[in-house]
Order: sequence, then C-alpha cells, then structure tokens
Amino acid sequence: MGTKRQFRVWRGDDTGGQLEDFQVEVNEGEVVLDIIHRLQATQAPDLAVRWNCKAGKCGSCSMEINGKPRLGCMTRMSTFEETEVVTVTPVRTFPVIRDLVTDVSFNYQKARELPAFAPPVGVAPGEYRMQQIDVERSQEFRKCIECFLCQNVCHVVRDHEENKPAFSGPRFFIRAAELDMHPLDARDDRKEQAQKAQGLGYCNITKCCTEVCPEHIKITDNAIIPMKERVVDRRFDPIVRLGRKIFRRDQLDDPANWPEAPSPAMSGASVPGGREAADAGLHAASTDQQWHHSTPLPQAAPVGPDGRLPVSEIALDRPAASSPYGDDVVFPLPVENLSYRHPEPQDDEAH
Ligand code: SF4
Ligand code: SF4
Ligand code: FES
Repeated sequence: MGTKRQFRVWRGDDTGGQLEDFQVEVNEGEVVLDIIHRLQATQAPDLAVRWNCKAGKCGSCSMEINGKPRLGCMTRMSTFEETEVVTVTPVRTFPVIRDLVTDVSFNYQKARELPAFAPPVGVAPGEYRMQQIDVERSQEFRKCIECFLCQNVCHVVRDHEENKPAFSGPRFFIRAAELDMHPLDARDDRKEQAQKAQGLGYCNITKCCTEVCPEHIKITDNAIIPMKERVVDRRFDPIVRLGRKIFRRDQLDDPANWPEAPSPAMSGASVPGGREAADAGLHAASTDQQWHHSTPLPQAAPVGPDGRLPVSEIALDRPAASSPYGDDVVFPLPVENLSYRHPEPQDDEAH
C-alpha cells in the first residue's frame, strides 16, 4: 500500500482553466504518468493526457512538472519530497486543447519548411557509404524523440507568440545542423536556410533547450553554435561575397521574389525518369492511401525574376526532395482528413 500525496493538475481547455487539487496514492518506483493514470482511473476519468510508450521514447507525454518541462513517464515520484505538492500543467508554448494536451502542430509546420535530405544523384538507398566519424556526428541529433520540450522552454517563442512565424526553434536547428554536416546531403544552402528562414539569429545561446532535453543532446554546443559559426564564415568569406554580387544572390534568396512553385503535375514533367521518379511515384501511392492526399514530386529549382538560379542551386545537380508530409498539407489537419485506420491482420501477412 502506497502513501497519499498531494497533486495539483491543470484542468481546462482553450477558453481557460484552473488548477485542481487531488490526493492520490503513490507507490514505490512510480513515475508522474503513473499517478496521472491513477487519477484517471479513480477520480478524474475525463482528464486528458497524451502518452504512448511510457518508456521515454515516443516524446508524447511532455508536460510541466513543478514548472519544469519534463516527460511525465521519465519523472520518478522519488524526485520529490514526500510532503511536496506536485503541480502538473500543460506545456506553455503551445495552445491547450484540453487539460494536459496541447496543439503542437507548430512543430510539424516548421518540419515541413525545412528542405528534406537531398541524396546525391545516381546513388540508390542502400548504396550510401559514409565514414563512421560522420555517422557518429549526426547520430547524436538522430536521438531526438520530438518531445518538443526544447521548443517549449525556448524564451524566443515561450513568451513571444509573435516570433513563431520567423523562428523554427532548437529541435529544427539540430535537424539543419545534422543535414549540413551530412557528407551525402547535396544542398549547400543549409546555413542560409537556418539564418534566413529558420531564424537562427534569434537564438542567444541561453542553453535552456540543452538543459531540458531528455535525450541529453547538446543542442547548443554541438548544433547551434557550429551553425552560427558557419553562417558567419560564409557571410564574410570574400569569394562568397563576390559570388553574391555577380549572381545578385541577396535578391534571389528572398522567397517572396520567387515565382509560384510548379504544380505537382508540372514538376513531375520536369523531373527526368529513372529511380527518383519511380520512388516518388511509389511514395505518392502509399501516402495517398494513408493520408488521403498526393505527395508532390520534387520541384524544379526556384529562379529569380531575372531567370537566374541562386548560387546554391547552380552547384546542385538535382532539386531537393519534397517534404515527407506533402507540400499541399496545412497543419493542423482537418478532422475529416485524419486516418485512424489500424492495419488489418491480413495487411501484415501481405508485407
Ligand atoms: S539556446 Fe537558443 S534555441 Fe536554445 S533555448 Fe536558448 S535561445 Fe532558444
Ligand atoms: S532535441 Fe531533445 S528536447 Fe528537443 S525535441 Fe528532441 S529530444 Fe526533445
Ligand atoms: S509516454 Fe512516450 S515519452 Fe513518455
């Protein structure tokens, strides 16, 4: 038999809410998510909480516990004094849907804005070869479980809703850094993308994101600071500056100056056949079934009003792949477009 402990849990929705007090049983070895589940089972059956794995791997159970962003399933009750009141609130940076569940679609939007990995032309998946040292460098960033605790704690957006359109946040800075350091990524404009489109300059390296990361990713030291250094290198490199002048790069970099992206049908026509086209076709078919939308084929490189390509595009032999979510998807998805279908047993046999 456990002891009774005092809990305060935020209850409410997007119109408002308040903290409610509960006395809950706590047993040895339990975590905060266990207590939330006991609350649902005994006193508050309609308490909303998002969780999936209860193993610190899915990143769903992000919440603020006594004011600190944490994973509910990885926060042991033994962290707190027996007499301490444990206060659980939803993460603050994202709008509340209900109780402890927030709308984190901001993060999926930012994920879509980041150009995907662009593999070298003529090399099929399975033929990629990297040195172990390069694998290890990006391995750290691949540990991310997308809990968005780093996004939640970052002061650039936590208290400044108005910064959200211009700032992607630390989770996406590590993705940009990972791609920039990837020896097989064919894009060479990751630094400009981070600075201009992701708002890297807003970050003043407070390291709060690193402090809350449950995967102990050194977000600032290993991703943000190296990216900032590379941006500076690039900006003040005399040869790059000369190239910018010749190709009028500053104008061309501004997406507002670019023409409308070609429609999927048009861009499909502009992509030569072969493996990429076949892969894109397969991808489109499978995502059509799952998400009820078609995934566009890779789009042609953008050109400026004078018809010239940006320097980075000139150096590439193919445009970047399209977003894995599809370029025509706007988050949050309308409810009628969500698919809750689980695979039937016969589907498993077929694969
Ligand atoms: S180091 Fe930068 S990205 Fe991380 S929390 Fe601070 S301002 Fe935000
Ligand atoms: S970088 Fe760390 S804190 Fe940020 S989303 Fe990934 S796992 Fe969570
Ligand atoms: S439930 Fe998956 S990380 Fe907590």
